[in-house]
Amino acid sequence: MASLSTTLLFLSFCFSLLFFSSFSQEDPQKTYIVYMGSHPKGKVSTSSHHIRFLTETIGSNFAPRSLIHSYKRSFNGFVAKLTEAEAKKVSEMEGVISVFPNGKKQLHTTRSWDFMGFSEQVKRVPAVESNIIVGVFDSGIWPESPSFDDAGYGPPPAKWRGRCEVSANFSCNDKIIGARSYRSNGKHLENDIKGPIDSDGHGTHTASTVAGGLVRQASMLGLGLGTARGGVPSARIAAYKVCWSDGCTDADILAAFDDAIADGVDIISGSLGGSSVKDYFNDSIAIGSFHAMQKGILTTLAVGNNGPEFTTIVNFSPWSLSVAASTTDRKFETKVKLGDGREFNGVSVNTFDLNGTQIPLVYAGDIPKAPFDRSVSRMCFENTVDKERVKGKIVVCDSLAVPGGVVAVEGAAGIIMQDESPQDDTNSYPLPASHVGPKPGALILSYINSTRVPTASIMKSRGRKRNRAPFVASFSSRGPNPITPNILKPDISGPGVEILAAWPSTVSPSGAEEDNKRVLYNVISGTSMACPHVTAAAAYVKSFHPTWSPAALKSALITTAFPMSHKRNPDGELAYGAGHINPLGAVHPGLIYNASETDYVKFLCGQGYSTESLRRLSDDNASCSANNSGTVFELNYPSFALSTNASNPISQVFRRRVTNVGSSYATSYKAVIVNPWRDLKITVKPSVLLFKRLGEELSFEVRIGGQIRKGVESAALVWDDGKHKVRSPITVFNANLHSLD
Ligand SMILES: *[C@@H]1O[C@H](CO)[C@@H](O)[C@H](O)[C@H]1NC(C)=O
Ligand SMILES: *[C@@H]1O[C@H](CO)[C@@H](O)[C@H](O)[C@H]1NC(C)=O
Ligand SMILES: *[C@@H]1O[C@H](CO)[C@@H](O)[C@H](O)[C@H]1NC(C)=O
Ligand SMILES: *[C@@H]1O[C@H](CO)[C@@H](O)[C@H](O)[C@H]1NC(C)=O
Ligand SMILES: *[C@@H]1O[C@H](CO)[C@@H](O)[C@H](O)[C@H]1NC(C)=O
Ligand SMILES: *[C@@H]1O[C@H](CO)[C@@H](O)[C@H](O)[C@H]1NC(C)=O
Ligand SMILES: *[C@@H]1O[C@H](CO)[C@@H](O)[C@H](O)[C@H]1NC(C)=O
Ligand SMILES: *[C@@H]1O[C@H](CO)[C@@H](O)[C@H](O)[C@H]1NC(C)=O
Repeated sequence: MASLSTTLLFLSFCFSLLFFSSFSQEDPQKTYIVYMGSHPKGKVSTSSHHIRFLTETIGSNFAPRSLIHSYKRSFNGFVAKLTEAEAKKVSEMEGVISVFPNGKKQLHTTRSWDFMGFSEQVKRVPAVESNIIVGVFDSGIWPESPSFDDAGYGPPPAKWRGRCEVSANFSCNDKIIGARSYRSNGKHLENDIKGPIDSDGHGTHTASTVAGGLVRQASMLGLGLGTARGGVPSARIAAYKVCWSDGCTDADILAAFDDAIADGVDIISGSLGGSSVKDYFNDSIAIGSFHAMQKGILTTLAVGNNGPEFTTIVNFSPWSLSVAASTTDRKFETKVKLGDGREFNGVSVNTFDLNGTQIPLVYAGDIPKAPFDRSVSRMCFENTVDKERVKGKIVVCDSLAVPGGVVAVEGAAGIIMQDESPQDDTNSYPLPASHVGPKPGALILSYINSTRVPTASIMKSRGRKRNRAPFVASFSSRGPNPITPNILKPDISGPGVEILAAWPSTVSPSGAEEDNKRVLYNVISGTSMACPHVTAAAAYVKSFHPTWSPAALKSALITTAFPMSHKRNPDGELAYGAGHINPLGAVHPGLIYNASETDYVKFLCGQGYSTESLRRLSDDNASCSANNSGTVFELNYPSFALSTNASNPISQVFRRRVTNVGSSYATSYKAVIVNPWRDLKITVKPSVLLFKRLGEELSFEVRIGGQIRKGVESAALVWDDGKHKVRSPITVFNANLHSLD
């Protein structure tokens, strides 16, 4: 509470900087977001409206100072310092949809494009692609990267209304056409640089994955050598810096949506998310992406890195595209060679070269620092290992020791980690490192015990072919959708493991301060890396079909995805959605499951949101009358999910519509059901759809019966006209999923 008295409130309009001082001991003020939906038709909301509103609600001498930011370009609302009692009062006022505290969210190769059959030579529509503007919500951007060289690009598209926050350190060009930064609390931490410049690396990496230009001979100190390129290399980038070293606040994320929608971006990519489940209208990203959808802008989002448990997904609104992370067919292998000549394969991204030099080897369990004993020090927790005895040696730790372990063994010549899950280690470390499984781990420990002067060496990583790819990474968050379980989330999976992309030369590749390495390309992993691949694929599809709605783009990507294997991921669709992204296929989906703002409003009515709220959300006079309310099973979603009690017989009907975007001749599509386990009884009515013209929309029903025997069961509906296979995953899962037996 005391810190509030020194909070600098940056008021971005007509008021000057003020120290905040007014709060009561009993009910301290906190920052809240007050969300009020769309602008009233024909009116604009301004900060003076919001001040008047606050004044009327909570008292005259208080409001102006408490208002931190007004959203006024693309939707209506504001950020204010309020007590809990005031927040409650505000939430009861007419016109207010939700009031929620300003929470924090986190930022959760090139080979990757070839791996999905998307080569450098694919057909493109350069004139259209170069008019596509991708809004990247992230940690900013480092414009000096060769990936953002603007040689050969024309001026920004005429529709662009955005801005570039130019400073001594930062300017835009014809590739990065816009860059803004958001820090509503006005405080900058030591590790952060003011303005849109990327002092983390994450934003540079994601932006270059979407739309970086072609850079030959890119590698991370020799690893992953090849041509680095974004998925839509001609497209333009608008960077919205909402994330700083202490996270990304809801207030700043919403401010970026408010601007990006009005600036004229075509698509938004967000590799960030919260850690708690929030209702759609208490979540900044769900709110922002709803207004983006209203304006025809698709928002692509990472599902989070909290897997592999169920219901860990963080971005799951039906109007956005939620992306899981999978492997490519490349992996990095890091050999460990012992003094007795034995070699073991480990995993990591290790660019250090010890040239085979044998170095003394020690087990962290053998060198605890008082008062800790070996049972603690073996895990390399910070301050538990005797630092004198690690100096110049390679240390073996019994866990994935990031980042504490690296600190614990500071001064060491290298680190070998051993545990059950080396395959999940996709990190680079500030020292030579390899991560081995329990079998080689045990052999290494017994070698240490049996040898007077044990030694080892760690080799530089080498790229290797990964078999059985793709599968979803363990870290990738899983469904089901926590708010609407009967909408399948994630939607789709994209490459997110060991992805090479641009990096600021001002930031170390491991992110550790003691790491003095500098690289122009870095290999990192996360759903954050998967998301921009899918954003780029959506932008690529949009370059062929500029008028398609966000739902149409989603449908095209979902129904053309490469099916993935239930064998590798027993949690099936709840891990990978429809499957692995197929950018080329998505240009010709044949049929699409379209949805408009009205469809989402109907869905929300059916979910119990009030007429009052929805009227404010939507531009038209939406009301939840009987004929304007739909169940979740009627939302025209391109996939089918059903949460059920394992012991109950199932009986559920889904209603859908498909639009012909394939052939201008009469075509008939036949429904094919893929049902490997036969536990489910699936029928489609009608089972043949005859389209007479382009743009024609036809309806059908899918009926699911039977009973499930496994936690997650998978099937699919494929509409097939002999040329297109329009595949929608069908998944039925136990409502009480904890873990799979
Ligand atoms: C410019 O960047 C340097 C280091 O990258 C930093 O120390 C300095 O504060 C920056 N200046 C401004 C005005 O941001
Ligand atoms: C938003 O969260 C608050 C609690 O923070 C809750 O009382 C309210 O019902 C939620 N609103 C919506 C629309 O879900
Ligand atoms: C390995 O060899 C390279 C090239 O000869 C040299 O630059 C580097 O310092 C050597 N590394 C070690 C740890 O000896
Ligand atoms: C190594 O020796 C220690 C104590 O001497 C013992 O507790 C441990 O089990 C041994 N480890 C292996 C892998 O043999
Ligand atoms: C989908 O619906 C939207 C909104 O109603 C409409 O603008 C669009 O033309 C439709 N079709 C496609 C292919 O996007
Ligand atoms: C919305 O409702 C208002 C008042 O009920 C009415 O004047 C207006 O014409 C309606 N607008 C639309 C688009 O239906
Ligand atoms: C219900 O829908 C019909 C046709 O779609 C429309 O004419 C009618 O006005 C609607 N009724 C209400 C109460 O919205
Ligand atoms: C499952 O069964 C329980 C108890 O019979 C019931 O409360 C719950 O609503 C059921 N859930 C579903 C998804 O049918």
